[in-house]
Amino acid sequence: MNILLTGGAGFIGRHVLDELIARGHTIRVMDSLRPDVHADRPWTPPSPVDFVRADVRDARALDGALRGIDAVIHLAAKVGLGVDIGDTPDYVSSNDYGTGEVLAAMARAKVGRLTLASSMVVYGEGQGLCPVHGRVAPGPRLDEAMAAGQFEPPCPICGEQLAPAMVGEDVATDPRNVYATTKLAQELLSSNWARVTGGSVAAMRYHNVYGPGMPRDTPYAGVAAIFLSSLRRGVAPQVFEDGGQRRDFVHVRDIAAATVLATEQHPAGVRAYNVGSGTPRTVGQMAGALAEALDGPRPIVTGKYRLADVRHIVADSSRLRDELGWTLRNDFADGMKEMALSFDR
Ligand code: UD1
Repeated sequence: MNILLTGGAGFIGRHVLDELIARGHTIRVMDSLRPDVHADRPWTPPSPVDFVRADVRDARALDGALRGIDAVIHLAAKVGLGVDIGDTPDYVSSNDYGTGEVLAAMARAKVGRLTLASSMVVYGEGQGLCPVHGRVAPGPRLDEAMAAGQFEPPCPICGEQLAPAMVGEDVATDPRNVYATTKLAQELLSSNWARVTGGSVAAMRYHNVYGPGMPRDTPYAGVAAIFLSSLRRGVAPQVFEDGGQRRDFVHVRDIAAATVLATEQHPAGVRAYNVGSGTPRTVGQMAGALAEALDGPRPIVTGKYRLADVRHIVADSSRLRDELGWTLRNDFADGMKEMALSFDR
């Protein structure tokens, strides 16, 4: 296929690009190499790749880049949790206005196939299991409760502590921060485009992606990169809450394989796919695995917390396996070790 990959110079994009090349596709990358990401991460396109340096908000550049294209993989976005509310305009502009331009240009060019990088953050606090009320959407975690060391979210009906439950794609969305809201808006805008144009959308709800090339210690970096940066300085990873918060850490090569598979296989219509390993780990366990891989100081559980964090978010990725034939190839312990050893700061 002739594929336009936006954000192809980013962490996930580089791995998607490798996978596309390995599978024999013809690729054009569009990336703005934005300075807040690429100042210390230079990138040169590998030789078989056509490269357009432009922002996805540039309609004219999109029109050129879409010539001869069969499908778009749209990864270009501002990522992370954000530092403060002042980041809102940049998130909305980069992610939602940008997607609006991509969709409008696809309609002009009559390109009808889109694979979109979405995120598990669209589920917010996800789902919990109440001993009395079964599966429920957890209530908000209050500052006072967290300050008192109560980190598990309460049942919204009776206030009992909930156990984590795996979320499937049909669980109601509940974005709880600006980034999450812009990711959900991207999905909604894409669905609307598909309805109007007859196009197809595969929305990939990535879980916590890790692996070689992960962005380093910035306020926007994921927890694995933050821990690695401190271990490299000989400082113990600082684990928030009680370390028992669960995530599903999935290797970037598995993410790339899922993304390419969806581009090749996803049938008509709009479909969301969770992309996770299916084996949740606690943040404390993940910190331990990295410390062990580097023979570094043991993690410290600090009891500190960030109000915008969700407690547990764990994926059920069976739709991706059943419908598209995706399989997980990278083991957690080996993958953490690989990332730890390839991390150069
Ligand atoms: C992450 C990504 C988000 C992505 C989502 C997919 C970032 C910043 N966030 O969200 O973009 O869409 O996965 O599910 O990349 N923690 C510590 N110590 C630290 C920093 C964090 O213990 O120094 C804890 C946090 O309290 C949280 C967990 O680690 O419980 C994960 O944090 P983080 O990686 O920042 O964000 P996610 O919410 O998982």
